[in-house]
Amino acid sequence: MPIRIADLFCGIGGVAEAISQGPGTTAKDHTTGRAPAQQVNQMDTSAVVMAIDIDQSVTSLYSQQHGVMPQCSTIESLEYVQLPDSADKIDMWWMSPPCQPYTSRGLQRGCNDSRSNALANLINLIPSERPRFVGFENVPAFRGSRHHRKLQQTLHETGYQTREYLICPTELGVPMRRKRFYLLARRDKGKLDDFASTCPMRSLANFVDTPSWDNAALHVTAELIGRYRPAMNIIDLQDTSAVTACFTSAYGKSPVRSGSYLHCQRRGIIRRFSANEIASLMGFRKHFFSSCDLELRSQYRLIGNSLSVDVVSALLSILLVD
Ligand SMILES: C[S@@+](CC[C@H](N)C(=O)[O-])C[C@H]1O[C@@H](n2cnc3c(N)ncnc32)[C@H](O)[C@@H]1O
Repeated sequence: MPIRIADLFCGIGGVAEAISQGPGTTAKDHTTGRAPAQQVNQMDTSAVVMAIDIDQSVTSLYSQQHGVMPQCSTIESLEYVQLPDSADKIDMWWMSPPCQPYTSRGLQRGCNDSRSNALANLINLIPSERPRFVGFENVPAFRGSRHHRKLQQTLHETGYQTREYLICPTELGVPMRRKRFYLLARRDKGKLDDFASTCPMRSLANFVDTPSWDNAALHVTAELIGRYRPAMNIIDLQDTSAVTACFTSAYGKSPVRSGSYLHCQRRGIIRRFSANEIASLMGFRKHFFSSCDLELRSQYRLIGNSLSVDVVSALLSILLVD
């Protein structure tokens, strides 16, 4: 039976991208998260059948890339997680709620931040909806929050087994830092394996598009460099062991602590990464943003909010084995 997935807080669809790429196509070949020979990896027969996000701007890109039109609504107002006009149950929830309630930049107000109300509603719906599988992603600071404890308690009281992971894409050989907290849960007796990887680190050069050097919109002005250089994370193109900083949704807006820059000595240029280059580092297909009409600033915001597809893929290979 196909696994029917609800992509909750779908954004540009990191989980839909992982499902469409399927198991065994990327770095996950090297993880122990693969299904052993006698087990069936159900990723092959899984599909995202519903997606929800409050942000209208993601809908056309999501439907164009993943073939599902997201519902544009607030998750705190959901009374159940079901497709309208369908008797088929949703088998799996993937939740990546906003992280601001748990970050120091977002003032760590947790339950007192209204941006966490949507997650609170989903936690309350778990005992009545009882999806077979649950996947969850957030910043490491989510660990130990009241919502973390409430999620664990609700899942355990409803009969789920859970397993938690802190994973950075560098562990899968991707030269980009983005450590995140993940929780997997399933209602049956299936095993939730360790995550371990033996991937060699790939060179950043594999993710850099040569034509982007000619894109003046990506070039950084001498004035900005003069002002912020000591705090800017600038990577030399020749540095084969370089690893980028985490790209946030503020990339292209905040000059520092929002991601790395690239320097080419021969061209005498320091530039931002393009949204497509960041999408590649995040594990999305090449040229992910090329045919969309979103402004560059919006592309940066959406990719900065998204998921490492390689990590999600490795985790789904752990979760969706029968
Ligand atoms: C961390 S991002 C998730 C990224 C997404 N999973 C991806 O792969 O791109 C959080 C998303 O939740 C959406 N969101 C925030 N509050 C929401 C709410 N109350 N109801 C529905 N969606 C919401 C935001 O628009 C944003 O796209």
